[in-house]
Amino acid sequence: MYLIPSHEMLKKAQRCGYAVPAFNVHNLETVQVVVETAAAMSSPVILAGTPGTFTYAGIDYLVAICQSAARQHRLPFALHLDHHEALPDIERKVEAGVRSVMIDGSHLPFEENVATVSRVAQLCHRYGISVEAELGQLVGQEDDLTVDEKHGAFTDPDAAAEFAKRTGIDSLAVAIGSAHGLYKGEPKLDFPRLEQIRRRVDIPLVLHGASGLPEKMVREAIGLGVCKVNVATELKIAFADAVKGYFKENPEANDPRHYMAPGKVAMRKVVEEKISICGSAGKL
Ligand code: 13P
Repeated sequence: MYLIPSHEMLKKAQRCGYAVPAFNVHNLETVQVVVETAAAMSSPVILAGTPGTFTYAGIDYLVAICQSAARQHRLPFALHLDHHEALPDIERKVEAGVRSVMIDGSHLPFEENVATVSRVAQLCHRYGISVEAELGQLVGQEDDLTVDEKHGAFTDPDAAAEFAKRTGIDSLAVAIGSAHGLYKGEPKLDFPRLEQIRRRVDIPLVLHGASGLPEKMVREAIGLGVCKVNVATELKIAFADAVKGYFKENPEANDPRHYMAPGKVAMRKVVEEKISICGSAGKL
């Protein structure tokens, strides 16, 4: 079994009214947990890696781990480049086997964003590779990228329609009050804005920053057309808290096969919960 592009998965989700969860993975343990849980729940799933993750794990290592996971479960999964910005970097990872790409030009002025994304979309579509891009800008921290409140921007529905049409992307990440990392205070999503975007844009919409969003909000966003839900921070917290707890009780521990185990159990619960919120169980 191979790593597949994500656009068919997302189109099916759009037709059937659920979302595909995308989990950020960093190492063998996160890939194992996400893929094993998705396989057990028969859920489509996207494994996402930021530039920092690929630098940490190594491109070939990460691709090989994800391919092995897909082979082992005899199921198709997508490995997706999350928040990538440079064409040569994307090309290198596509050559290594990645079939789903986010080109993030959301920090650029509109015309530059259109030009950058169009270039990547042209290249990727030659090989049947899926392309996601973002318009508007989420606040918070993702990888090495931090955006403060001053620089965050909501997605404009009319600009979104023009952006999708001119770039030819397969999915659009929207900024509707969503934030990377944990929310400061109570999260507030601009659902009327999401509705307006949905009315003008017919490709699948992506909700970044799902960690810390109440279940009801994520379900409402899916009801209004979100087909991909990105989760990173909640997995990290679950893993880190469980491993810290293990060391507290076993200060002499030194065997990673032992101290990683409770971290994996804790992450599994998060993955199960998000799959069930997305409504993607049984949709493989
Ligand atoms: P969180 O870390 O807030 O879950 O966001 C993940 C994300 O959007 C990855 O692109």
